[in-house]
Amino acid sequence: MANNVRPADMKRINTPELAEAFINEQVAEIRAQVGNKKVLLALSGGVDSSVVAALLIRAIGRQLVCVHVNHGLMRKGESEQVIEVFRHQMDANLIYVDATDRFLDLLAGVDEPERKRKIIGGEFIKVFEEEARKLEGIDFLAQGTIYPDILESDGVKAHHNVGGLPDDFDFELVEPVRLLFKDEVRCVGHALGLPASMVERQPFPGPGLGVRCLGAITRDRLAALRESDAILREEFAAAGLAGQVWQFFTVVPDFRSTGVRDGKRAFDWPVIIRAVNTVDAMTATVPEVDWPVLKKITQRILAEVPGVCRVLYDLTPKPVGTIEWE
Ligand code: XMP
Repeated sequence: MANNVRPADMKRINTPELAEAFINEQVAEIRAQVGNKKVLLALSGGVDSSVVAALLIRAIGRQLVCVHVNHGLMRKGESEQVIEVFRHQMDANLIYVDATDRFLDLLAGVDEPERKRKIIGGEFIKVFEEEARKLEGIDFLAQGTIYPDILESDGVKAHHNVGGLPDDFDFELVEPVRLLFKDEVRCVGHALGLPASMVERQPFPGPGLGVRCLGAITRDRLAALRESDAILREEFAAAGLAGQVWQFFTVVPDFRSTGVRDGKRAFDWPVIIRAVNTVDAMTATVPEVDWPVLKKITQRILAEVPGVCRVLYDLTPKPVGTIEWE
């Protein structure tokens, strides 16, 4: 049974030296646990699964099989970055599954938020399971469980909205960062040479853009959401806000509003900008982003994103509004 209690005298990993020592210790432990067997990992590209992947690649190289499922609800460039970093830079054994059509077909016409979450979570497990069944000789399943998951939700990653793998999968778990807090996972990620844009990423919900494309997801609004979100991220980074604002993203509602473009009446989608600061996501405040920054983002979204004729900044703190819109 793996030890799931952080020893009272365990040092907080907050320097490259401590991270390096942790990495060396874990590499030895993983090699002892796994031997010459194969390990499977669902690699979303989020901080935790990325750090676990890099750690396992350091320990056992291509004995690690990573599966990256693109559910079509990733942010712009995210799946591409997973492929670039892990397949091309780290020579990982990476299976990339583009399941976009599968997810979007299932979600067509579904407008109830919790139902959308269930479909996305359930289908994710199904796709991952199908890939796992195609592979032979896998004995271990690696997971990016971190210490808050153990403390708060009994070892299950908070908010993942997914069930588990079927019972006939009899994998032994490999959870090398299970005793670490988020800042320590990031510190280890830097020491492993992962790009800062991956290690310092803001939280991104498991259902991805699916809960930000409000109501029943359509491909045109999803495209508008992805493009406007990319512009927001670029402009927040250029204004030095990327590391300062806790979470920021755009939302595209499922109603249209009137506009005028090139002297003609338009009837297009609004884009809502949501930015929040928080410590634990239970309460949140809205940062006073400088007017010129908001103005530039608005101008760019209106000029560059087809089908959008209005941009709004959400001023609502949590409570009463949640961080996400659905
Ligand atoms: P709310 O909207 O409840 O969000 O104020 C609090 C934090 O949780 C994230 N969030 C999710 N994460 N699956 C996730 O993995 C979800 O279904 C989900 N819903 C909300 C949200 O992005 C915020 O950081």
